[in-house]
Amino acid sequence: MAAQRMPVPEQAPRQELERELAALRDRVNYHRRRYFALDDPEISDADFDEDFDLLVELERDHPELVTPDSPTQRIGTTPASKFAAVRHATPMLSLDKCASVAELQAWEERCRRLLDDGDELRYFCEPKIDGVAVSLLYRNGTLVRGATRGNGESGEDITANVRTIDAIPLQLDGRAPPTLEVRGEIYMPIADFLAFNERMRQAGERPIVNPRNGAAGSLRQLDPRITATRPLSMFCYSIGDHHIGDDAAWRPARHSEVMRQFRDWRLPVNPRGQLLADLDACCRYVNALLEERDDLGYAIDGAVVKVDDFALRDKLGQVTRKPRWAIAYKYPSEEASTVLHDVDFQVGRTGAITPVAKLAPVFVGGVTVSNATLHNMDEVARLDLHIGDTVLIRRAGDVIPQVMKVLEDKRPPDAGAIRMPANCPVCAAPIVRVEDEVVARCSGGLRCGAQQRERLRHFASRLALDIEGLGDKLVDQLVSQALVQDPAGLYALTKEQLAGLERMGAKSADNLLAALAGSKQTTFARFIYALGIREVGETTAAALAAHHRTLGALLAADVESLQLVEDVGPIVAARLVEFFANDANRQLAKTLHEDIGISWELPEGTDAAGPPPLAGQTWVLTGTLAAMPRNEAKARLQGLGAKVAGSVSKKTTQVVAAAGAGSKLEHAQALSVPIMDEDAFVVFLQEHQEQLQTTG
Ligand code: IVH
Repeated sequence: MAAQRMPVPEQAPRQELERELAALRDRVNYHRRRYFALDDPEISDADFDEDFDLLVELERDHPELVTPDSPTQRIGTTPASKFAAVRHATPMLSLDKCASVAELQAWEERCRRLLDDGDELRYFCEPKIDGVAVSLLYRNGTLVRGATRGNGESGEDITANVRTIDAIPLQLDGRAPPTLEVRGEIYMPIADFLAFNERMRQAGERPIVNPRNGAAGSLRQLDPRITATRPLSMFCYSIGDHHIGDDAAWRPARHSEVMRQFRDWRLPVNPRGQLLADLDACCRYVNALLEERDDLGYAIDGAVVKVDDFALRDKLGQVTRKPRWAIAYKYPSEEASTVLHDVDFQVGRTGAITPVAKLAPVFVGGVTVSNATLHNMDEVARLDLHIGDTVLIRRAGDVIPQVMKVLEDKRPPDAGAIRMPANCPVCAAPIVRVEDEVVARCSGGLRCGAQQRERLRHFASRLALDIEGLGDKLVDQLVSQALVQDPAGLYALTKEQLAGLERMGAKSADNLLAALAGSKQTTFARFIYALGIREVGETTAAALAAHHRTLGALLAADVESLQLVEDVGPIVAARLVEFFANDANRQLAKTLHEDIGISWELPEGTDAAGPPPLAGQTWVLTGTLAAMPRNEAKARLQGLGAKVAGSVSKKTTQVVAAAGAGSKLEHAQALSVPIMDEDAFVVFLQEHQEQLQTTG
């Protein structure tokens, strides 16, 4: 049956229009059913879309004719029932919740009352992953089925999608029972979630609200090739049924045993799972995990405390689909709704104007939030944001709070439009928007006080020249009193000028002058980063420094030669050339180096033209370093000429395995890649630093 359509005249008489709409609705409903429920479509997707779009259009023009049963009213709520249903052999349960130590203690009390005197309670604590619960079925060690939790009784068959996830073994490693159902949580790592959203924003498309939706949406793709492009991972946390077939070889008595066996089979388990002796230890665990929440790399919404011993679990049993033997300790939510009071326009270092949402204060992700970046006006338009709107905001970890969406049904009738001002709120120069760029900029350049201030702040910041004592308040004073306009001006400050400023005395003036003098001895990477070139972060600066070695070489580089530097593509190369093509910028760089004497030394055994010491090497960092942030370790390796990769391969020269290293470490061992621990790494860096200093 092909889609047939009557032309709809502009001024169709009402009855005719009603008839046409009813026919269209029936047709769309019919084909929806053929497609989703019967898996037997009669028309092409394109023909279906055409009908559907026409229905949307007609209903938009005649909202009074929209019926509650119209298929347009089901968008987004219709499950992708294209997937076959799967009945779970034993139901997938949910968890009881608590949110305080007192409630956790009350839970233990309840457990004790149901147990016998001699029963020894030990607990297994794990992060509660904020993802999608799934079941994996292995037969004789081979993955044969993946299914969603669904309503707990039955879910959907997502085998094809699950098979695309690298972390999930298609074959268990070693002897496995004839039938094994593994349960766990599929999640999208936070870095990948942010990168995905950034790409969506750049493309003007709708970002994902949170990593959980990212995982759910990716698993709900009918085309597994799309799922394969999504960065998903998994942590396994239970077996579906612990009476494993008739195989007597594996009859675990404890959860901790299951976790150990999972690991041996190479099933991904959370490295932070811990067997603990008593509830006090669980309380400490819950608090420590909350502290770590921002650094885990994946979203969690709490911790799960589980009774370890299966015999005790059997005694405790369950009530209404929730086991009595486990409890979720919930952490503060990372999402909340609040009201948008106003929008401010802030001027950044490069003149970029950023709209910032001024919100009614709301507690989210463990802190009170009253500002959120709106990125740019395209984002404001995409959100269809109005002053007075109620918005959903999200703050995860130390990520800047984001406005995810507008709750449209809460929009007040007097909601006001948001407009970009014509002039810079700081220097009044016109705001311009370059074609093809989403960002609008103040055209005041370095005459704009805001840009001067931001550039000085950046220059003095920790990863740049790290000038101690030059805080934001002081920078504000220096700029507003016209004592300093650019970084070179800092080095001309006198003790008298400084001592006269608010909250400064002779002593702090001396300290700042000493810090400024000390900042003249630095690294080329820091110097490049400190210049504040658009798109040049500390990683790119380190790569540029390792490659070019001298300011002269960097100033002489063109768009082509710059792209020979690792991590530098055409956009970054163009920004660099553009920056140094500006006389004021070029002169500033030269003045700082040649006249003021900001200088750096070259690594040992190399001259300005020779290769850096780790040239041609690929390093991988894994685990959590205690001595320095990961980006610093990365920048220092790059400064020595190494490439720093995200995964281990045969080409890896060296792996640095810090505490909590997981699969990358195992992979390195399997490939016999050299591994050093954090202590050895710190010594290695120190040695290279000393070489740097003795050769200067
Ligand atoms: S145990 C009966 N462990 O939390 C035990 N669940 O509210 C059921 N979840 O649907 C699960 N991390 O999706 C368990 N380490 C973990 C978990 C976890 C996340 C989810 C799971 C479940 C929900 C229960």
